[in-house]
Amino acid sequence: MRILLSPDAAGAAEVAAAVVAASVADLAFPVLGVATGSSPQPFYRALTARVAAGLDLSRAAAFALDEYVGLPVDHPESYHSVIAREVTGPLGLDPSRVHVPEGAAADPTEAAARYEAAISGAGGVDLQILGIGANGHIGFNEPGSAPDSRTRVVELAPRTVADNSRFFDGDAGLVPTHALTQGIGTILDAREIVLIAWGESKAEAVARAVEGPQTTGLPASFLQRHGRVTLVLDAAAASRLSPASLPAEAAR
Ligand code: F6R
Repeated sequence: MRILLSPDAAGAAEVAAAVVAASVADLAFPVLGVATGSSPQPFYRALTARVAAGLDLSRAAAFALDEYVGLPVDHPESYHSVIAREVTGPLGLDPSRVHVPEGAAADPTEAAARYEAAISGAGGVDLQILGIGANGHIGFNEPGSAPDSRTRVVELAPRTVADNSRFFDGDAGLVPTHALTQGIGTILDAREIVLIAWGESKAEAVARAVEGPQTTGLPASFLQRHGRVTLVLDAAAASRLSPASLPAEAAR
């Protein structure tokens, strides 16, 4: 896995935006995989600045990683709302090409199959943006998820419910217990992956993802199977990596 370091989250966001802008430059109709949560927020702002400076994403399609089950789509913390607010509008994407799993569908299992078909129909994801949970989840693939898992309904881990309560007035009781998420296999089908992590709370998960064994206990460890993954980290998120894992200039 390629690792790019920056001193802080704002710097990491700029680095990630540069990587993504370079990757989509040659694609007539880029297909992006987009994450929600706090990790990519500075990155979306950095990419928005590039759009203002001329980067054209109006022909890009986007597929969100996940959506809560049981939350109305117009709830401000539904990922439909978050993606519209933080991604579609600021980046100038065409809303008709932006897809979020239908967590509010009457039959979420059927919605999961439709989502997989929509990704395939778009030709697959060119570039997937990821965050990482403190427990090593990617998307909402919690510990125990299989590396060949596909889009499906999952139960959120207690740690994830607690972590995400900050988006629900600090009340864990308001956080949905289930979600519809792309599987690890779905994520690994993307042609390129850029994972953004900043802050000390991610340091252990990052170190285990990069240096640990591939294990269902740490879902992000399966990223080791992918040939084109870039981790963009701030110093705190990289703080538990061994010097051997760090870019040469940082290890000196
Ligand atoms: C979000 C997602 C999650 C988050 C992860 C980190 O769509 O799939 O895997 O990336 O929970 O969340 P933050 O960035 O809020 O720490």
